[in-house]
Amino acid sequence: MILVTGGAGFIGANFVLDWLARQDEPVVNLDKLTYAGNLETLASVKDDPRHIFVHGDIGDGALVDRLLAEHRPRAVVNFAAESHVDRSIHGPGDFIQTNVLGTFHLLESVRGYWAGLEGDAKSAFRFLHVSTDEVYGTLKPTDPAFTEENRYEPNSPYSASKAASDHLVRAWHHTYGLPVLTTNCSNNYGPFHFPEKLIPLMIVNALAGKPLPVYGDGMQVRDWLYVKDHCSAIRRVLEAGHLGETYNVGGWNEKPNIEIVRTICALLDELRPRDDGRPYADQITYVTDRPGHDRRYAIDARKLERELGWTPAETFDSGIRKTVEWYLANGEWVRNVQSGAYREWVSKQYEGKA
Ligand code: NAD
Ligand code: TYD
Repeated sequence: MILVTGGAGFIGANFVLDWLARQDEPVVNLDKLTYAGNLETLASVKDDPRHIFVHGDIGDGALVDRLLAEHRPRAVVNFAAESHVDRSIHGPGDFIQTNVLGTFHLLESVRGYWAGLEGDAKSAFRFLHVSTDEVYGTLKPTDPAFTEENRYEPNSPYSASKAASDHLVRAWHHTYGLPVLTTNCSNNYGPFHFPEKLIPLMIVNALAGKPLPVYGDGMQVRDWLYVKDHCSAIRRVLEAGHLGETYNVGGWNEKPNIEIVRTICALLDELRPRDDGRPYADQITYVTDRPGHDRRYAIDARKLERELGWTPAETFDSGIRKTVEWYLANGEWVRNVQSGAYREWVSKQYEGKA
């Protein structure tokens, strides 16, 4: 079996659902259920004996030691993190706690467990750390996309905490020989994305008749990957990645934010036109920019393609259409995640900004 951390969040839950849909190997899913973790996303595997959900913190060494000893996983895939840049600006403490200290404690538990393995179990064991392209900092318009050789130049508390975790993972390999793999992926989108990140926020706000808040001039560029393609890349790296290596994951889909928002508006105009016949783009509102906002991210994923033969299945056009359709069909999931904590965040982040 494998142990997944953060498997009630956006990417982790998509990974768990895809994993169980493809094979019978069980998953132990350790998640703290912060505001971003949502068991409803895992409702379809609630009674599946191959899915063992454990509510807890990656930084709880005693708990992780016990889970490793009890379930004896062949791999650990670490998704657990605080992941929202804007939240990291308002309150960086949780990011240091989970992304840095939590990863450290997890690595220590895994190191102890791995040291006690023998023979094939020891040589086959893997610790896969899921990270982000944001560790590389920001690009100028004509710079080449990030390769695995780029310097780490994180600019936000979030990316700095992820960079720190990547360094810890690297050091645990170099110093202790822990069999690690790291993936650095670009921005994901798709089903079960918490509606405070750009794409789901725009869909949800558009349908609710609310403003669509575009930061600054809307010309910041992100490189978008459909979440299920990220999951397939992680499965491939877990299966065949070279120990101690890092792999960039991306789909060559660089787009300015305003283009993303306009695309979503156009899809909604087609699929769920406004009652008054006006275009959803009327709701676009430019708001104060994010402090220290990175201008451009772009991922060069050629190493993953060349060495492990991975390519994404979705284009941006197919992925964004599926995503908008998913949100239209899953209004109940959206309503249920818009809890008191969600509403509190939205008023803290957007009130008085327009
Ligand atoms: P998310 O915020 O949706 O989910 C994070 C999950 O981790 C939640 O279920 C949360 O409850 C859990 N968690 C948080 N702290 C924990 C702790 N201390 N112990 C156990 N569980 C804890 O994040 P996501 O978008 O699914 O991202 C998953 C991972 O992928 C993160 O490591 C993130 O840095 C990375 N990543 C995300 C993106 C993206 O576009 N979302 C892109 C590249 C990499
Ligand atoms: P986000 O989804 O927070 O991801 P990240 O900051 O990790 O790339 O934001 C994606 C882009 O969208 C980023 O450039 C900030 C911008 N953005 C807005 O313009 N308005 C919003 O309300 C949000 C949440 C993000």
